[in-house]
Amino acid sequence: MRFFYTIIFVAITVNQATAQLNPYNYNNIKLSDDQKNIVVSAHALASDAGVQMLQLGGNAFDAAIATQLALAVVYPGAGNIGGGGFLVAHTAKGENIALDYREVAPASANKDMYLDDKGNPITLLSMQGHLASGVPGTVAGLFATLPYAKLPFTTLIAPAIKLAKEGFAVTAAQAADFNNSKAVFEKNNKQPVAFVKAIAWKAGDTLIQPQLAATLQRISDFGLKGFYEGTTATMIVNAMQKNNGIISLSDLKNYTVKKRVVMKFGYKGYDIVTMPLPSSGGIILQQLLKMTALKNLASKPFQSTASVQLITEAERLAFADRAEYLGDPDFVKVPVTTLVSDGYLKKRIANYTEGKPGKSSNTTAGIIKESEQTTHISIIDAAGNAVAVTTTLNDHFGSKTIIDGAGFIMNNEMDDFSVKPGVPNMYGAIGNDKNAIAPGKRMLSSMTPTIVLKNNQPFMVVGTPGGTTIPTSVFQTIVNVIDYKLSPQNAVNQPKFHHQWLPDVVYVENDYPQTTINNLTKMGYTVTVRGNIGRTELIVIDNKQKTVHAVADKRGDDDVRGY
Ligand code: GLY
Repeated sequence: MRFFYTIIFVAITVNQATAQLNPYNYNNIKLSDDQKNIVVSAHALASDAGVQMLQLGGNAFDAAIATQLALAVVYPGAGNIGGGGFLVAHTAKGENIALDYREVAPASANKDMYLDDKGNPITLLSMQGHLASGVPGTVAGLFATLPYAKLPFTTLIAPAIKLAKEGFAVTAAQAADFNNSKAVFEKNNKQPVAFVKAIAWKAGDTLIQPQLAATLQRISDFGLKGFYEGTTATMIVNAMQKNNGIISLSDLKNYTVKKRVVMKFGYKGYDIVTMPLPSSGGIILQQLLKMTALKNLASKPFQSTASVQLITEAERLAFADRAEYLGDPDFVKVPVTTLVSDGYLKKRIANYTEGKPGKSSNTTAGIIKESEQTTHISIIDAAGNAVAVTTTLNDHFGSKTIIDGAGFIMNNEMDDFSVKPGVPNMYGAIGNDKNAIAPGKRMLSSMTPTIVLKNNQPFMVVGTPGGTTIPTSVFQTIVNVIDYKLSPQNAVNQPKFHHQWLPDVVYVENDYPQTTINNLTKMGYTVTVRGNIGRTELIVIDNKQKTVHAVADKRGDDDVRGY
């Protein structure tokens, strides 16, 4: 059965309850005003799954679990059960939480596994196919979130099972995505794949995923064991063994979530609560906020040459530190306290001179990909819980491999390791031995789920996909609100830019003000115009003004629902 209709993409402001959308006919909602229970995610049906849980008496954690599971069905490019993620939360009781369910390198992984006999990187191996996958953490992450939730897991997973079993209408962007990825899916999978069909996809076509529905049902029936042991685990390992992959049954059984201490620091009267290592995101965000504040960013007009130049120079320094110092703290020693200390950052930014471009070294670096490989969810509930979750398959559709019989896409997160010192990964990011592959080690991430507190109450819930552009996008959103006083809608939708030390290029979105681009170019910067940077999901709660505004990024099918 196929349902044809036109999906109307309109920006609507809602103030009324929405629940249980018709999966074959739905709109995107981009803005929400004065709702107290809000879910912002990359897909309307996933936001709706979260809202359904809130309306059933669940809290923000219930919504986070249901939304992630629904994204694994309706947003297969990045939503996942075959990947990993980070959750940062501030509970109504005032507890700050960071859950690390990042993928890990399998036990038989080794430092040189993506190098040929001569020691040269075989880069495609860490990006596509079964060998590219780390041991998935998402399902374990959902169960680690469950103690903070109120509803049974079987209720939280029910919308995802229904969407996988009965199908949903794909959006125009998804139809184009499936069509563009047809060849790569066919190359990497011997079995039929739900996302590939003989004739081209178009908006409104129904995607049904029976194998994924059965996998979700096993998780519903058997909990963690429904994924990490038994039928699903056997399917993963069979697929690995047939296709040069190395994930084993014991890798799956031994996977554990780590409860981390949040990275918390003050900024202009606010407290920023964000993700620590193994994400580089929290460290970079802290370095950027502190270095730009030292040079009085707020005095330089929004999107002006002076503002972009200062941020660019701070980004150059932060990403140079990332490459040199950062890795999984359970495996390598990282001088975090120094890296974010006022004294160190004062020295780092001391050479910044307005009007004078810095220079990165000449180390070979790759091209930044325009990809939406990761996905972010921002949630609040009326009780005062705030949850920011970013999860990832790494690249768009991860390793491009679907586990035969289980119907879900595996990540290609091994590419977030440094396959060889100085060799760029697919985001052009380089690293050294700190981020080298080792069995059981977590690869360095950039994901930056963040909650900004004012007087110990949630003020902002924010995050975005975008690889290395994640911390710089979260940074821009925070300063857009706090320093530049932009409306939440403008803070998200105004064009962004990005620099990451190597390559020595300022990337700007294609609608960035031309005068600023011209001035930077004249000054000596290499400026490259590119497509979208980030898909930011933002909630701003102003307790003084008694207002709540939520924004789903204009750059995709992103959607905000609430009541
Ligand atoms: N895979 C993108 C990240 O973790 O930063």
